Formats: sequence, C-alpha cells, structure tokens
Amino acid sequence: MKAIAIQPGAGQPHMVDRTQPTITAANQVLLRVLRVGICGTDREEILGGRSKAPDGQKELVIGHEMLGRVEKVGDQVTRAKPGDLAVFTVRRVCGECLPCAMNRPDMCLTGKYHERGIWGMDGYQTEYVVDQEQYLVRLAPELAGIGVLAEPMSVAEKAIDEAERIQAGRLPQASAAPDWWFGRPCLVAGLGPIGLLAALALRVRGAAVYGLDIVPEASARPQWLLAIGGQYINGKEIPLDKIASLRQSMDVIIEAAGIASLSFNLLDALGANGVVVLTGLPDGDRPIELNGAALVRGLVLGNQAIAGSVNAARDHFQLGVDDMLSAELRWPGHVAKLITHRYAAKDFATGFSQHPDDEIKAVIEWAQ
Ligand code: BGC
Repeated sequence: MKAIAIQPGAGQPHMVDRTQPTITAANQVLLRVLRVGICGTDREEILGGRSKAPDGQKELVIGHEMLGRVEKVGDQVTRAKPGDLAVFTVRRVCGECLPCAMNRPDMCLTGKYHERGIWGMDGYQTEYVVDQEQYLVRLAPELAGIGVLAEPMSVAEKAIDEAERIQAGRLPQASAAPDWWFGRPCLVAGLGPIGLLAALALRVRGAAVYGLDIVPEASARPQWLLAIGGQYINGKEIPLDKIASLRQSMDVIIEAAGIASLSFNLLDALGANGVVVLTGLPDGDRPIELNGAALVRGLVLGNQAIAGSVNAARDHFQLGVDDMLSAELRWPGHVAKLITHRYAAKDFATGFSQHPDDEIKAVIEWAQ
C-alpha cells in the first residue's frame, strides 16, 4: 500500500510502499484511512523539525489527524464494528508510568511515549492502519464530513479541560456551578485550526469568546468565529496591553499561536484568579525580553495560573466529537468550512508544499 514518508531531519515527503497491516491480536482494529489532515507539526517535521522514525527505520510515515472506516475488528473489540467511522488517537503509552497505565499517555511521566506520525511510530498518511481498541474513538455517521478534525479538536478540548480542572480545584464558585462556562469571558489567541476549534468548544459551552489574531476582520478565520457568536480582536489594531481596558479582562485564555512573547503578553489581558493554558509550540531559540518582576507580581497578586497542555487523552477525543455533533446541530454545515483545501493522495506534494493565505485546514484524501 502507499504511504507518505519523510526522513526525519531532512527532505521532502515522498510516496513509499508499505506492507498492508493486518490484525494480529484480539484487541486490534483495522481502519481504512479516508482522509488525513495536514497541520503545523507536519510542516515543521518536513522542514527538519522535531520528528523521529521508528526504531531501526530511516523513514517515518507522517500524519496524525485521521478519519477512517472500520474494516475489521479483533475478537475482543466491543467499541466499534466494521463500517463504523472512527479515529485513532496519536500518543502511545510508555508502558512504565502510572498515567500511561491509566490510558493517559498525554500525561506520560517518562517521556518514553510514541506519537503516531511524529515520534518513533508511523502515522496515518497511508491506506490502512491497525491499532488497539484503547486508542479508538467511534464517530457518528453525521460526522463523516468533519471527523478528520477530531484530533485538533481533542487538543483544544484538553486545554479547556485543563482550565476547567484548575479553576474547579481552587475557585469556590467554579466547583459549585455546573454551568460555569456560561457567559464567561474567554480569549483564544491565534485563530488557526486549534484556536478556532477551541473557540467552537467554548461557544458550545456558552462562553463569551474573543478571538485574537492579526488578519483583517473581513478574512475567513475571523468571519468563521463571528458566525458562531465570537468577537474578533485584531492584534494589529489593538495593542495587547489595551485589551483589558477596551473589553473586559479574561477569565480563561487559551493560547494557540505558538509565539513565546505573545504567551507572556497575554497575561495583560487576564483577570484576577484567571488561567492561561498554552498549546502552541514556538520554534527557534530566540530569547525574549520580559519584565520578570512585574510578571511574577501580577501572577501572585492576581492568583493567576499558567499551564501548558500537549496532546490529548482518548476522553478528550470523545468530548471533541460530542461537541462537534452539538455544533453541527447549532450551526449546520459551519464546521466543514474549516476544511478549505483537499488534495488527492497522488497530489500530496502540492498539499504539503503549498500553504495559501486562505487555507485553514488542508486534508489528503485517501478514500471516499
Ligand atoms: C499534535 C499532538 C502532539 C504534539 C507534539 C501536535 O501537533 O497534535 O498530538 O502531542 O504535536 O508532538
């Protein structure tokens, strides 16, 4: 079967031939890959950034945002049956630490995890994949058109879950109110796919969502946000330290821009007892200048929290697909507008080399 691979550290993606995987254990599921998203991490891998081939191999099959159809299941599998739509999660357990033993490799303590398509394990840009049921999430047929967004959605869901757990653990009103998010001012910084999907999950919860980016308000991503009832803040027009005075200060900030200086500047927009969750991975090692004393003073006097969040648990995928279904009911057809570019697998080179301004999410089509 065909697969798209890179040589970590160097070189362009190319088509390789791989043996089609088969079910070899009772807890495994075989998926026919339907489509696979391209994300910033893939583009960085191609540019020589963070990635690792499986042990003993030179090449890594890339791709970690997938949608598939169940082709075959092992005897013990109960979560899905042939014909179902499903996705596999990204990270695989290290086999040594407690979080991994609890199927939370997203919180792995040893760092010996693998990530399909990124770190030491082949990914999903191929025709068929096999994995264990514990990494599988089944999707309702209504999600056929947008299910490929389940992975970036899961990353957004984990960040929101982190914010909620931190606040519920320390704010008396947050632990008492089941509807805590309703009307709550939340800022999402960086309106790429993760930022827009975080905005979506927050809007599903009824939050007052502000989205920050530096593109014109008339362009596709701000307009997508406005259509779900969000408000757009153009960072080119409103300096960050003015956000707090122009609008209200934020209770929760989800950072999805991957710009180190911005991550700290965002604290200017954070209200008392607020929390910032960082999801972006800045590249390079350029130092930034900070007023450290003022920053620490603000955090301490304001009871503010900063958390980093990477990857996502199986449960966050489940939350994500549930929220996408709610979003489909509330804003029919709107989520699909995030998928702006589709490339046939044979045209993969164009998909990976182009990154047009109007692209939100590009996907490689493997099957219908
Ligand atoms: C993926 C995560 C992964 C992270 C770091 C992101 O692009 O969505 O699943 O953990 O990269 O490798």
